[in-house]
Amino acid sequence: MLRTPSAVRDAERHTAHNYHPLPVVISSAEGAWLTDVDGRRYLDCLAGYSALNFGHRHPKLIEAAHAQLDRLTLTSRAFIHDQFADFCRELAALCGKDLVLPMNTGAEAVETGIKVARKWGYQVKGVTPGQANIVVAEGNFHGRTTTIVSFSTDEDARADFGPYTPGFTVVPYGDLAALTEAIDENTVAVLLEPIQGEQGVVVPPEGYLPGVRRVCTERNVLFVADEIQSGLGRTGATFACEHEGVEPDMYLLGKALGGGIVPVSAVAANADVLGVLRPGQHGSTFGGNPLACAVATEVVRLLATGEFQRRSAELGERLHAGLRGLIGKGLVAVRGRGLWAGLDIDPELMTGRQACELLMERGVLAKDTHGSTIRLAPPLVITEDEIDHAVAQLAAVLAA
Ligand SMILES: Cc1ncc(COP(=O)(O)O)c(C=O)c1O
Repeated sequence: MLRTPSAVRDAERHTAHNYHPLPVVISSAEGAWLTDVDGRRYLDCLAGYSALNFGHRHPKLIEAAHAQLDRLTLTSRAFIHDQFADFCRELAALCGKDLVLPMNTGAEAVETGIKVARKWGYQVKGVTPGQANIVVAEGNFHGRTTTIVSFSTDEDARADFGPYTPGFTVVPYGDLAALTEAIDENTVAVLLEPIQGEQGVVVPPEGYLPGVRRVCTERNVLFVADEIQSGLGRTGATFACEHEGVEPDMYLLGKALGGGIVPVSAVAANADVLGVLRPGQHGSTFGGNPLACAVATEVVRLLATGEFQRRSAELGERLHAGLRGLIGKGLVAVRGRGLWAGLDIDPELMTGRQACELLMERGVLAKDTHGSTIRLAPPLVITEDEIDHAVAQLAAVLAA
């Protein structure tokens, strides 16, 4: 008898229903492959929303975690530990910035970025006390805290969680004129995803990000790039901003930084920005802990080789070529960069959820986002044959 049905029921019994997972119960994984409690294998085309860029249980990351578990796991930031300096130096170098501030989840990195930008605004830019504002984009997804959902334009994410944090101006994504118009003397930052992941892997028009960079420089406003999902190899470069030759003032990083093992996030910026924080003004008990630093340092070293960015760029071409071939055969649009794709399925045919359920039956796991859109973000260790397999399964689902 299959174990999955009862395992699904058990998993739902004592939990809040804040997710609607596919009815599959995973028990082990390696590389790009998952195995469920009934021994069925699935090709992972979500990679933990890009937290598993290096695949499941990458040997170097597992080795770093094991070694650290045997020595030291937590000190809090009350003391310095011997993994901290290397991690901060190497991540700062990868980002081309002076300093990093480690946290845990992506939302915490975003909250950190907002606090730092506001403090910078008051202390460096000279913004009127209490009046700092941050320009954000429609369709954004930056996390789930009360402040972050305050400027979400997704009613599901936002409704009934007020009162909302003030100080944010929302403009259409990709519209440089609207963004420029929204900036005033109290604007401290523009906060954007260089590609909007949750919105369906939406790539802004060419020239938009360089335009944002130019306006931010002209108006003395920080350009804060949320690269939590788009960064660390996903798009075929270390950062998605690189595709347009743009360097933001602040990077927000998370997900893949923890190697799919521990939650690790960070803010990276130069000393004139991150240097505004003083002891007692920000922190986290677990932020920058020894286990996190040991794993994340190894992540940074994997990225420093350039191998994963290269794989993502090359294999991404193959993925996108395969997917483009399905336009008119069940797909109406394909977007994305590198090994990251948002697909709009013909809504007459099926919803994104239905497509993901059918893909699951064929041994491929992906996740729907809005309506008839699904996104694919396989681990960057995926092979050419596995990409062809995923595209073939999608073609079969759409043709059925
Ligand atoms: C662009 C972006 N920012 C922030 C977050 C929030 O990260 P976390 O779920 O780790 O809080 C996400 C998560 O999907 C994201 O995609």
